[in-house]
Amino acid sequence: MTPSRHFQSFPARTGNRTLFKMEHYLEIYDEMLAPYQGKDLNFLEIGIYKGGSIPMWQGFFGPTAKLTFLDIDPACRALQTPGTTVEIGDQSDPVFLNRIGQSHGPFDLIVDDGGHKMHQQITSFQHLWPSLKDRGLYIVEDTHTSYWPGFGGGFREPRSFIEFAKDLIDRMHSWYTEDDIGFPLHPMAREIGGIRFHDSMVVIEKRLKEPPVAITAANGQTNRSRRMLEVRGRRSIF
Ligand SMILES: C[S@@+](CC[C@H](N)C(=O)[O-])C[C@H]1O[C@@H](n2cnc3c(N)ncnc32)[C@H](O)[C@@H]1O
Repeated sequence: MTPSRHFQSFPARTGNRTLFKMEHYLEIYDEMLAPYQGKDLNFLEIGIYKGGSIPMWQGFFGPTAKLTFLDIDPACRALQTPGTTVEIGDQSDPVFLNRIGQSHGPFDLIVDDGGHKMHQQITSFQHLWPSLKDRGLYIVEDTHTSYWPGFGGGFREPRSFIEFAKDLIDRMHSWYTEDDIGFPLHPMAREIGGIRFHDSMVVIEKRLKEPPVAITAANGQTNRSRRMLEVRGRRSIF
């Protein structure tokens, strides 16, 4: 299926509400979100600003999708459109985030386009990840702020969101640990299906899963094994 150019064509179709995105996200969204177009799903975006993304998402998902937008600025309340919900609160407030998850979740897609500071992105992820559905996507925009000291970032800054996301790579692979003390199995190994790093955007897919199996298949017969996870001190994959 050829993806539509809904997102790439949207800037030329905006009205008087300003949209604020990096241009290359639009092509990523057209490709990555094609399976979600017109779907009756549950969506959350953090960060409203002038409200330009509200009609963009609403036009993509269609009238039956449930769309929630949140911002810290009470003026954003006025930007709610029919069929959407605007909530006002701080994306670094766990109580507020838990309430959003309970009253509007679970979500199929979550986009963090809020304040882009390290503690905001990390706290939002920690408290909204449990409200993401199996097969859902958690998208963090503008992760270049991980390299900006003014946002709490910096190159290899341990408290940056990019370093946090790199740590998720380790958690996803923690099935395969040979170091139960320094690198123990993490519960998120059962939850993370994949992590995509784009320029300035990180996408974490939730996929509830059993410990992975290796298969050998021949003559139409499949043998399944978890030895990849169980045997220690390996020097060969076989
Ligand atoms: C980049 S703009 C959002 C742009 C919008 N999503 C779009 O695509 O046009 C960032 C927004 O995040 C909001 N914001 C900043 N800090 C926040 C926080 N701690 N909690 C919630 N929203 C916050 C700002 O008020 C601002 O409206």
